[in-house]
Amino acid sequence: MTAPDIKTPLPGPKAKAIIDRDEKRVSTSYTRSYPFVMARGEGAVVEDVDGNRFLDCAAGIAVTSTGHSHPDVVKAIVDQAQKFLHMSGTDFYYEPQVRLAEQIAEIVPIRGDVRSFFGNSGTEATEAAIKLARYATKRPNVIAFFGSFHGRSLGALALTASKVVQRKGMGPMMPGVYHAPYADCYRCPVGASPDTCAAECVDWIENQLFLHLVSPDEVAALVVEPIQGEGGYVVPPKQFHDRLRSLTRQHGILLVADEVQSGMGRTGRMFACEHFDLEPDMVNIAKGIASGMPLGITAARADVMSWPPGTHASTFGGNPVSCAAALATINILRERLVKNAETVGSYLLDRLRALADAHPLIGEVRGKGLMIGVELVRDRKTKERAVTERDAVLEAMFARGVLILGAGRNTVRFAPPLVLSKEQADSAVKVFDEALTEIEKTGGGTRRPETARAGA
Ligand SMILES: Cc1ncc(COP(=O)(O)O)c(C=O)c1O
Repeated sequence: MTAPDIKTPLPGPKAKAIIDRDEKRVSTSYTRSYPFVMARGEGAVVEDVDGNRFLDCAAGIAVTSTGHSHPDVVKAIVDQAQKFLHMSGTDFYYEPQVRLAEQIAEIVPIRGDVRSFFGNSGTEATEAAIKLARYATKRPNVIAFFGSFHGRSLGALALTASKVVQRKGMGPMMPGVYHAPYADCYRCPVGASPDTCAAECVDWIENQLFLHLVSPDEVAALVVEPIQGEGGYVVPPKQFHDRLRSLTRQHGILLVADEVQSGMGRTGRMFACEHFDLEPDMVNIAKGIASGMPLGITAARADVMSWPPGTHASTFGGNPVSCAAALATINILRERLVKNAETVGSYLLDRLRALADAHPLIGEVRGKGLMIGVELVRDRKTKERAVTERDAVLEAMFARGVLILGAGRNTVRFAPPLVLSKEQADSAVKVFDEALTEIEKTGGGTRRPETARAGA
């Protein structure tokens, strides 16, 4: 399938009919940026129910790592489904789950023995990590970061500090969670220069948090996204992770790397931690691990993941069909797609950076592999956030046949399936270029409220 190829006004008649039905019966809490109704997909191309074809730069929120319905993944799913659909790894054994745990132990950036806990989603991976950290350390508190996203179930939500709409009306939050500044050097949260931003963010933990609010020997875990995802695809300097690692080691705090969005090859390495030589004590995995089948994994140092039967489990967690999809996905990533994410990602990054000369809306282009964010600003000096303009750009890209999401308040997020070719990257850049030109001319107009944008 080739894309973009738009044949009807959007939404087309069939899409409109489905959206009308959805609006009556489906939860109003979902965020939909524009009216795309999926019919089928192949690689990095998706087709809607009216036959319009789009280049997919969203991958179902950074999930379909091997592209839509990769034949090897589909075959693995069908083969497993014909044998059995479910047995519950909580009470019984099945080989695909063991094999996956063995593979995860091989690929995660943790040295020595590793064990895995299986859930169904990113938020469940966060829940498992919080519970395991508390259990293993016998300490109650957790540190997370402003701008972070770790899920929406109530434990994970207490860590999530992305958009206030995600928390509003849901309190009280789980106690014992403290938030620290994340080293976003483009707009340093502690007001430091880009050179000192990373150090000053970690100093804040030592000199403010540990001095005034919580004793480090009562902190079980520090949970950090190696590259912040929902917060705006923010790449911190290596020094940030170096300092966090030595601080956590010094105080016996477990470092949990949330690789739910940045993992599984997306950044051109199997895990984003590898870019920073960061060795965490636990790694959370979901999204891209099974190419779209539900699966969440909390992998930990074996000496940490030593909790007695009954402490944590899930009926569906590590479902055999999802495990089969994950094993096929890992194979494809290792053989080809981690490398492709690196090559096509750096090509796309260069091409996007080259657009900055022509487009004053572009404030910063950043990323690793195929995890790329373009932050839009109204003024490069003041860095005023181009919030409505960003939303208008997403809609203008949709109208031209590219599916793409925002991240943070004013960043355009390029998170395509890792099968993206250079030619497809060129198409995405061309459409982005046109959309920027249009919005720079029209200003983008008035849009829906900021809280109603799509994303995780
Ligand atoms: C870094 C990170 N952690 C956790 C989650 C939550 O994952 P899920 O939506 O599968 O619960 C997300 C979702 O976007 C994420 O980006």
